Amino acid sequence: MTGRLESKVAVITGAGSGIGRSMAKLFAAEGARVVCADISGRQHDVAAEIGDAAIAAQVDLAIPAQIASMIDTADKAFGRLDVLCNNAGLGGPIMPLAEQTEDNWDMIHGVNLKAVFFGMKYGIHSMLRTGGGSIVNTASAAALVGWKGHGVYAAAKAGVIQLTKCAALDYAEAGIRVNAICPGNTWTGLVKASKDHAVPPPDARTPPSVPMNRWGLPTELAAAALFLASDEASFITGVALPVDGGYVVP
Ligand SMILES: NC(=O)c1ccc[n+]([C@@H]2O[C@H](COP(=O)([O-])OP(=O)(O)OC[C@H]3O[C@@H](n4cnc5c(N)ncnc54)[C@H](O)[C@@H]3O)[C@@H](O)[C@H]2O)c1
Repeated sequence: MTGRLESKVAVITGAGSGIGRSMAKLFAAEGARVVCADISGRQHDVAAEIGDAAIAAQVDLAIPAQIASMIDTADKAFGRLDVLCNNAGLGGPIMPLAEQTEDNWDMIHGVNLKAVFFGMKYGIHSMLRTGGGSIVNTASAAALVGWKGHGVYAAAKAGVIQLTKCAALDYAEAGIRVNAICPGNTWTGLVKASKDHAVPPPDARTPPSVPMNRWGLPTELAAAALFLASDEASFITGVALPVDGGYVVP
């Protein structure tokens, strides 16, 4: 099936790598025009790979004014915003809670939570001008179960789920759906071992406690985001969908 985002305009953060890169390529293949936003510079390569349907935006999501400019980029380049994926994130240092610092908290929450708030704030204003849209936030399985050493990150991602649910209620009647995906262990740049391999090599250590006993792939996360972003999910809002090989089931 193709064309599930025909004539839609999407902004995707973290589009330079991993899940965001897969979202950008899949959404464009499904007919969307895409703003590929990232801080890394790699979003330019992704946009070039996609071709005319994509443009790159350089943005540091820790700075709200740059998030406003990112949304403006979609409005100016393509005249509207239909789909917003607040996907970019970072893991931060893994350590017991009492060892975490205020700087770690601010860095992790700045990108993983505060930027999602500002992305939605500016994105919703744009969507309201054209009659609606769909937002897909990237939370984490860490928002649903405890992750040792990840308390600060997990708190930010749990915040993303609550922002998602509350915004879903705020804008349900305005035609804006707001959902989240909760990735489990996914083979992306966030995973140290993935740096030299596009897919997990046969001897890659499988993350523990994953019933499917394998890594998730960015394309599998992108497919879930596409479903939620598209009109196929027209009666779905406020959900936090685990995409994790069954990890949060037990
Ligand atoms: N990979 C996993 O196992 C996993 C698990 C749970 C949740 N997630 C979430 O999935 C999302 C995507 O991560 P990924 O796994 O594709 O990792 P990734 O590292 O491959 O991609 C993250 C992207 O976010 C960008 N980014 C980071 N800080 C930024 C900033 N300040 N401004 C703009 N862009 C910034 C990075 O440059 C990078 O391109 C994140 O929100 C992450 O927390 C990933």
